[in-house]
Amino acid sequence: MRKIAVVNKKGGVGKTSTVVNLGAALAKRGKKVLIVDMDEQGHVAQWLSVPREGVPTTAELLINRDIEAKECIQNTYIKGLDVIPAKDTLGVARMQLATMGGMNFCLRKKLKKLTNYDYIFIDCPPSFETLTINACAFADEIIVPFTLDYLNLEAVSSIAKNVKWANENIYEDIDHRVEITGVLVTMFMKNQKITKKVMNSISKAYGDILFKTKIPQNVKMKECIGEGQVIFDYAPSCPSANAYEQLMGEFNERGI
Ligand SMILES: Nc1ncnc2c1ncn2[C@@H]1O[C@H](COP(=O)(O)OP(=O)(O)OP(=O)(O)O)[C@@H](O)[C@H]1O
Ligand SMILES: [Mg+2]
Repeated sequence: MRKIAVVNKKGGVGKTSTVVNLGAALAKRGKKVLIVDMDEQGHVAQWLSVPREGVPTTAELLINRDIEAKECIQNTYIKGLDVIPAKDTLGVARMQLATMGGMNFCLRKKLKKLTNYDYIFIDCPPSFETLTINACAFADEIIVPFTLDYLNLEAVSSIAKNVKWANENIYEDIDHRVEITGVLVTMFMKNQKITKKVMNSISKAYGDILFKTKIPQNVKMKECIGEGQVIFDYAPSCPSANAYEQLMGEFNERGI
């Protein structure tokens, strides 16, 4: 089983879009995929019309010792793609976690019991704090989606510093290590001067882990969310759908 956290401290860089579309691409190839939403914005469930009221969500999973991960799993309209949804109660749960022993390992404890998935993706909030630390305590791999802006260059190196610190100071206790295995350019716009400049800098810094696939900017990526569909169902031949398909191939080749 591959366990992947999708992380960036910046908001709106394509974390959720990548989790949902990459997860869907794999499920459509017959894989069993679970998406765990660790963002109180609850975008995964909103997008895929997964129930969040009257069902246990990631908040209860983290806080309530008696709730098991399998009780929180919801099916989506795509066969093989399941979700543990989040909603705004996760914000309070995050604060409650701070008062609990083993606060960094609550998610890991629960998800470790799931054995029937090929991939578990965790959609993280735009920060590197308790919830992301919990996600990375379970994940082996981190994908960092990234848009080509000057101000985002530091965001990637800052995550790398956080990951190094967490490996040395938090995860060492449980003999766990997580690694940034992929940096993914999203919302790519060709033929822009800034694109070339920032691309040069990011290639120099992260060439070995930069995905060759870039996800092009395309309005269909916004529209599909409103229709509750993944890009492969809403606009299967648009450039972003092709790119996510290509990303799946590259992602599978790099498996650790
Ligand atoms: N390739 C793309 N082309 C055009 N729009 C895109 C693309 N990828 C994502 N978007 C849009 O950009 C917005 C932000 O994307 P998304 O929600 O995936 O980012 P995020 O990093 O998860 O944000 P947050 O930090 O708020 O959770 C959404 O409206 C989404 O539809
Ligand atoms: Mg998101």
